[in-house]
Amino acid sequence: MALTPVLLLLLAYCLSGVSSSAGPPPRSFTSLFALGDSYIDAGNFVTMATPVAPVWVDKPPYGMTFFERPTGRFSDGRVIVDFVAAALGVPFLPASLANSSDDDVARRGGVNFAVGGATAVDVAFFERRRLVPFKLLNNSLDVQLGWFEELEPSLCNATAETAGSYGGGRCFSRSLFLVGEFGVNDYTFLWTANKTESEVMAFVPRVVRTIASAVERLIVRDGAAHVVVTGNPPIGCSPTLLTLLRRTSRPTSAADDDDYDHIGCLRGVNDVARHHNALLGAAVVGLRARHPRATIVFADFYTPIRRILENPNQGGGQ
Ligand SMILES: *[C@@H]1O[C@H](CO)[C@@H](O)[C@H](O)[C@H]1NC(C)=O
Ligand SMILES: *[C@@H]1O[C@H](CO)[C@@H](O)[C@H](O)[C@H]1NC(C)=O
Ligand SMILES: *[C@@H]1O[C@H](CO)[C@@H](O)[C@H](O)[C@H]1NC(C)=O
Ligand SMILES: *[C@@H]1O[C@H](CO)[C@@H](O)[C@H](O)[C@H]1NC(C)=O
Repeated sequence: MALTPVLLLLLAYCLSGVSSSAGPPPRSFTSLFALGDSYIDAGNFVTMATPVAPVWVDKPPYGMTFFERPTGRFSDGRVIVDFVAAALGVPFLPASLANSSDDDVARRGGVNFAVGGATAVDVAFFERRRLVPFKLLNNSLDVQLGWFEELEPSLCNATAETAGSYGGGRCFSRSLFLVGEFGVNDYTFLWTANKTESEVMAFVPRVVRTIASAVERLIVRDGAAHVVVTGNPPIGCSPTLLTLLRRTSRPTSAADDDDYDHIGCLRGVNDVARHHNALLGAAVVGLRARHPRATIVFADFYTPIRRILENPNQGGGQ
């Protein structure tokens, strides 16, 4: 159900991309809120999916290298948002569906709304067009924003208190919002429904508009002042898509096939990811112009992951 890949090494590397582009001095933020999919889910997928579908991330080896138990993360260790939390000096964020009390929220400095398999575009879009052969969890970006807004009154109290500005000013002036990655699941559903590259390309503006309007809603309606919007990784290199899109006629040497680049990644899939990133980066520039008082940063997940894959012997990779 959740089709995003788990690439531990890459997640750690991504973080360095986030912190270097956001560049906040440690402790300038008092709380962190995250929306996204399995790259940063800290348990929401397990909570949502357990009643309706087979779940695998609640069993070993998930969680075994760091937490020493499965936590619902799609990783054997930490995920990106855990490293961001550590860099900001706030504890690991609780998953929003884990019933944290308001006290926990105040103490912990944030909430993680991400759910594995989440799409940017509403799930009804994929279901109505029969793009997926199963019922999707209702976990898209808009739904996650709705969860945030439901909690907002109590979060507002908690963050205002930790920020030492209770009763005045905006609630989230010292909060960092991490939006994404979104889009990987949207495109994965189209690719696995055998859509052509031009059909998937044509869908990109819709995905990007959805993400940009969510960011705008966070700023205008919810008072977010610092937002990191993350782009898509090169999912044409992910084991998930390489497996799902494998053709029986595939030549034995991937390098001989026009569909694959020199390191064995799917060119068309990565072209879409790069197009997504270009449009999303441009949308972020537009948002900055419209909201000059907010700090909106685009975090590039593509380049650093690509660099690792091009140079697998550097940085301890295999
Ligand atoms: C959270 O609380 C609700 C209502 O008490 C309960 O139904 C749900 O199972 C709880 N979720 C978790 C993850 O414990
Ligand atoms: C998903 O949840 C939202 C908010 O609760 C709701 O408006 C929407 O109809 C739901 N969509 C589906 C497909 O169930
Ligand atoms: C916020 O704090 C005020 C003052 O302590 C309290 O009266 C109010 O109930 C709190 N609101 C929420 C939603 O926790
Ligand atoms: C996509 O194409 C493959 C190979 O032709 C086929 O096996 C598969 O059923 C198709 N999937 C869908 C969703 O049409």
